[in-house]
Amino acid sequence: MYKPEQQNENKETFLRLLRSVDRKGIENLIDYLETKTDFFTAPASTRYHNNCLGGLLAHTLNVYENFKAQLQLREIDLPEESIILTSLLHDICKCNYYVLEQRNRKVNGKWEQYDVWSNTKAVSPPLPHSYRSIRMIGTFLRLTPSEELCIYYHMGPYGGEDYEYRNLLQKVNTDYPETLLFYIADLSATYLDEVMYE
Ligand SMILES: [Fe+2]
Ligand SMILES: [Fe+2]
Repeated sequence: MYKPEQQNENKETFLRLLRSVDRKGIENLIDYLETKTDFFTAPASTRYHNNCLGGLLAHTLNVYENFKAQLQLREIDLPEESIILTSLLHDICKCNYYVLEQRNRKVNGKWEQYDVWSNTKAVSPPLPHSYRSIRMIGTFLRLTPSEELCIYYHMGPYGGEDYEYRNLLQKVNTDYPETLLFYIADLSATYLDEVMYE
């Protein structure tokens, strides 16, 4: 769980990084996140990783750190702006998506209430989450082809099972190695930096 001070610090870091990007539309996107969404308090998932208040925000910063480390390790030179935009915004479609619900359970013969995150809302538009993020970002600013590919393929082999997807993934990972490292960064953040709360 993230304490309020940690959440505030994460929000400051997130905004400082995003504001360091010199691209038209950044301020409008920040304004949208701050005034029209729950981005800064939302969980990253219902039960898989960082399913807690501020979990999504912390996840994006974890991906940022992991992506930078992966690129450094492989000596791949990617503009800092691209590292920031992809890491911080790849899961932007998860804002205004999760709701906290109360459920009942019996513990030692007694009923008690507990909170659980749920995503009962209809997905709109009904597209894979990586593509929904790209569409949302696209209403505010233009991504480069490499940034778009990093976000689109950030689920790696879990993003699709059909023959075409697998072939394209292989080609994209070869031609744009940052896409493979971004997938690894997202996976590392999820499994090595974040926990699942019962
Ligand atoms: Fe994701
Ligand atoms: Fe993610």
